[in-house]
Amino acid sequence: MDFKTLPHPSPTPAAQRDAALADPGFGTLFSDHMVTIDYVEGKGWHNAVVGPRQNISLDPAASVLHYAQEIFEGMKAYKHADGSAALFRPEENARRFNASADRMAMPHVPEDLFIEAVRQLVAIDKDWFPSVEGGSLYLRPFMFASEAFLGVRPAKEYKFIVIASPAGNYFKSGVPAVKIWVAQDYVRAAPGGTGAAKTGGNYAASLVPQAEAIAQGCDQVVFLDAVERKWIEELGGMNLFFVMEDGSVITPPLTGTILPGITRNSLIQLLREEGLTVREEPYSIDQWRDDAKSGKLLETMACGTAAVVTPVGTVAGGDGEFTIGSGGPGQITSKIREKLVGIQRGTVDDTHGWVMKL
Ligand code: PLP
Ligand code: COI
Repeated sequence: MDFKTLPHPSPTPAAQRDAALADPGFGTLFSDHMVTIDYVEGKGWHNAVVGPRQNISLDPAASVLHYAQEIFEGMKAYKHADGSAALFRPEENARRFNASADRMAMPHVPEDLFIEAVRQLVAIDKDWFPSVEGGSLYLRPFMFASEAFLGVRPAKEYKFIVIASPAGNYFKSGVPAVKIWVAQDYVRAAPGGTGAAKTGGNYAASLVPQAEAIAQGCDQVVFLDAVERKWIEELGGMNLFFVMEDGSVITPPLTGTILPGITRNSLIQLLREEGLTVREEPYSIDQWRDDAKSGKLLETMACGTAAVVTPVGTVAGGDGEFTIGSGGPGQITSKIREKLVGIQRGTVDDTHGWVMKL
């Protein structure tokens, strides 16, 4: 599909942009452009435009505003030392996007169109990479039902949009280890629900327990399974790994209630290459507490595109608090984080073919 490029009438002045790029934070700064593509049933995807980032106009009856037919992805572009930009496993984001689309009764965006839209945005906003250490250009492709219709059925019209947000650390001040709150009264996803899809409603449902976590002095909430209320699932926006004393690593299995993280999948491979045994198996909140206290558990790490690999230092809620290891970053967590970040940033050999140079 040909993309039409519309000139920006008033791009951000370079001095203002560069000052913002020195301290971008997470999720508040946006680049100058966006990509939009329209879908109408019977006609398919059309009208691909790279244009100025601006407000979008929606009919008040647009289905997304009523029934939340919406999905998104989170990915990052990295600046390599040779000045080029690179994506990390973008075809995995494209594939997961379409898996989310299936669950939410939405049309697929062809994988090559998804990746081309992202490439076009990174190319036009190439001057929007943060200058801060560890910074990247966070990319947010999303799709929503734009048809004006109040009946409950899949919409016949959609918009696919990609925006870019220069980003630094997800956690304020780049904390050495995060504190996690165990949700007691809330679950994120039930069997048969939408937990494995990256759809806005899952995040809406996580806001109250996440606010509870913050009120309790924690950084993030961890959800337990909806049925037995004892198996650890994931954080509001990250998957979890548990590093044991015997050199094995446990991560919760993909049973349909957690997001199949691309960082999770990459870490499983990298940890195995380090000679560790990774088991995708259920791990309970009681095991977590007991193993941390007995020393059988050495480390816990949270991982995701936004959070990269973040050590979990303390867990609170229910039966009080417990500390994992020293309460700071553990050895395996630090080592695997360095390896992943190195591959993403082009300083460690990409032996898996995960990096797509743009
Ligand atoms: N779990 C949830 C609920 C998320 O929102 C994310 C972030 O995208 C992840 C896990 C990690 O997924 P990924 O590694 O693909 O970013
Ligand atoms: C991501 O890591 O890309 C996410 O979508 C998670 C969100 C909490 C920012």
